[in-house]
Amino acid sequence: MDIAGGENDAVPHVLIFPLPIQSPVNSMLKLAELLCLAGVHVTFLITKHNHQRLLHSTDDDGGVESRFDRYPGSFRFEVISDGFPEDHPRSVDDFLDVLNSLQGVAEPHLREVFLRPEKGRKVTCGIVEATFSYAFEIGSEVGVPVFAFETISPCCLGVFLCIPQLFKAGKLPLIKDLGEDQETPVDVVPGMEGLLKVRDLPRFCRTEGPQAEKSRKLFMAEIHSLRKAHGLILNSFKELEGPILPHIRTHFPNTTYMIGPVQQHLKTRLADRPPSSNSLWREDKTCIQWLDEQPDESVIYVSFGSLSTLTMAQLMEVWHGLVSSGVRFLWVLRPDILKPGGELSDQNMVTQLKKNCSQNGQIVSWAPQEQVLAHPAIGGFWTHSGWNSTLESIIAGKPMICWAQIVDQLITRRVVSEVWKIGVELEDKCDRLSIEKMVKELMRSRRQELKKSAQKFSKLARESVNNGGSSYTSLDHLINDIRRLSSIEHFENTSS
Ligand code: UDX
Repeated sequence: MDIAGGENDAVPHVLIFPLPIQSPVNSMLKLAELLCLAGVHVTFLITKHNHQRLLHSTDDDGGVESRFDRYPGSFRFEVISDGFPEDHPRSVDDFLDVLNSLQGVAEPHLREVFLRPEKGRKVTCGIVEATFSYAFEIGSEVGVPVFAFETISPCCLGVFLCIPQLFKAGKLPLIKDLGEDQETPVDVVPGMEGLLKVRDLPRFCRTEGPQAEKSRKLFMAEIHSLRKAHGLILNSFKELEGPILPHIRTHFPNTTYMIGPVQQHLKTRLADRPPSSNSLWREDKTCIQWLDEQPDESVIYVSFGSLSTLTMAQLMEVWHGLVSSGVRFLWVLRPDILKPGGELSDQNMVTQLKKNCSQNGQIVSWAPQEQVLAHPAIGGFWTHSGWNSTLESIIAGKPMICWAQIVDQLITRRVVSEVWKIGVELEDKCDRLSIEKMVKELMRSRRQELKKSAQKFSKLARESVNNGGSSYTSLDHLINDIRRLSSIEHFENTSS
């Protein structure tokens, strides 16, 4: 198929636009490939900064673009600036500013792309990260249906949808007496009564000040505009999170598609093709050879995702806790893991830690995570409870230690440990003794019980993406709806 037109005038053409961070770039690229496999054309809108990182970090695999050569003419990146100079560090603390600046560039760009008249290349619908509330507004304005893709878990979304009403009723923010308020139950979500406390909500619900105000504004805009989305795409599966769907539907009446885990979905539909990377950091594959030499289920994998940062003191607690547990570990220490403002000597210390790993441990800057989690030597995962990491652990059937830090991670950790019972929670205070205890609990004393639940969900995840499974059917439903939208568009164009 040729994206340039002629007989392809009715070929659906989707514009995909992820948040400019690792997790959504990864899951939305997987969705892009699933759509290409179904004969849908995709334009993937990405910031120049992330595009360059993606090309650079995947070049030893032939580069991310070469993977899409299998679908000639069906996929292309469209690169835009995020409005920041290239040498800007774009640290976690700058995230909201990056989003604001990106909005300034993306708004006129989206309008232009949606209205582009090019024959055979006209965008017939959009799939954008749910945070980009302005994209739904623009879609309604110019008559292009725009779907929302949620990169957080449906359970978190279910809670988040209730936060505006808590603010409206004056129940949030709860900041007067922090200690006591933190423990106040949040019982607004049907089926989650008794589960959540105020301390599980995002920080802007518990603090005041300019940063909280900025986050709250972004959040409220997202929740408010979600209703304008043509449909809602969720990266999860019914057997895990089906019970939250009726509640989500009371807030979002348009169609909901639960098509995940997209990671496993793509793997299944690609059958035997080797895995390929969507990493923004270069993967250190030597850790796989190291894992090959370790006994089955003997290693704990430790990674805090792409955004979390640690102080030097926390990093040392993690190191001592791991070493004194006596359990083998594979630890991802991103080059930017240390909180900004640390000393230069802190970086030297990290380099020393990497060099001084005993035979029991291995430290890498970035790992091929899905491959690592699937490895038989891995017995558990100490994670920050980011949604992609959680799903990848569920697919692999590996139990977790949850050390959540921000936004959705706090709710995910609670659901993982208390509802699905596939993990244990590490309290906010992260000292070496608690770490040692938790690692031993996960890898030894509670191993069998947690592993059994984790493997049950792994089986359900895999079944959901097999032919006839819930996510398989839901993805087909989405693709049919995308096709239908493009034929309506084609019909309108040819009859006018
Ligand atoms: C962010 C937020 O932290 C999280 O709360 C939200 O759910 C999504 O956005 P992030 O820190 O990127 O997420 O974590 P996560 O969602 O777990 O995604 C990380 C991705 O990076 C995963 O797909 C994982 O496979 C990949 N990864 C991580 C690697 O490939 N190698 C690594 O070494 C570490």
